[in-house]
Amino acid sequence: MPLNSPSNPRSPGGAGLTRRARAAGAGPALAVRAARASVDRMRRVVNLAVRRSPQSLFLRELVAQPGTVGAICASSPRLAARMASWVDPAAPGLVVELGGGTGVITAALLARGVAPERLVVIEQSAALAAHLRRRFVRVRVVHGDAAELASLAQSPDWPRDGAGAPLPIGCIVSGLPLLSIPPAVRQRILQAGAALLAPGGRLLQFTYAMRGPSLWQAAGLVGQARERVLANLPPARIDVLGHAGHG
Ligand SMILES: C[S@@+](CC[C@H](N)C(=O)[O-])C[C@H]1O[C@@H](n2cnc3c(N)ncnc32)[C@H](O)[C@@H]1O
Repeated sequence: MPLNSPSNPRSPGGAGLTRRARAAGAGPALAVRAARASVDRMRRVVNLAVRRSPQSLFLRELVAQPGTVGAICASSPRLAARMASWVDPAAPGLVVELGGGTGVITAALLARGVAPERLVVIEQSAALAAHLRRRFVRVRVVHGDAAELASLAQSPDWPRDGAGAPLPIGCIVSGLPLLSIPPAVRQRILQAGAALLAPGGRLLQFTYAMRGPSLWQAAGLVGQARERVLANLPPARIDVLGHAGHG
């Protein structure tokens, strides 16, 4: 018997409401309305639970879009802190996080000292983007596709300097699951990221592939450093990259 069945005695309000409707001699139409009300109430309870628990929101998005979420759980605080440790909060330009998820790395970037006004987070899931906006009210959260970075950086919402020009990107922090993103989309992400990173800028990417070159090298960036973080599920590798001739 489904949990939200009107005749399920464990369904909150459902059986009681339906019985009351029948007892009042209201007929089937009112009983159906009462059952629907109980299903709506159940939905509200589930949505509230999801809002209160970022991990259940992450799991819900994983089930809905396994290819783009690409991980069984959010990054560990240790991986997030190690990613943030490669960011210089005093370096010029914006810090752009690709694939914010539930905000573990966003929180680590803020804890590292990146000013919220200098941080832009791009997240393609509407539910996760809404969660990030609620969690980090001073951070610019863009609901969009990292493959469209060039046009996002021209949009009126993008942070601008005093003369109205879009601020350049000094650092890209990517939590994108590049290996599970379709190759054509991945190619556009890599090209856009490499093209928009400022000349002396730095790009960070974590991956669960512990060996081999970074996919960003195919877009012309060069590896500057690499670090393994075992305290994550699964263990991860951080690649630090930049433009040739810098760093
Ligand atoms: C592996 S999760 C990482 C989340 C978070 N940064 C963390 O470390 O816990 C990948 C995130 O990237 C987002 N994502 C995937 N493809 C994207 C795209 N093309 N543009 C923007 N976000 C994307 C997913 O929705 C998901 O939130």
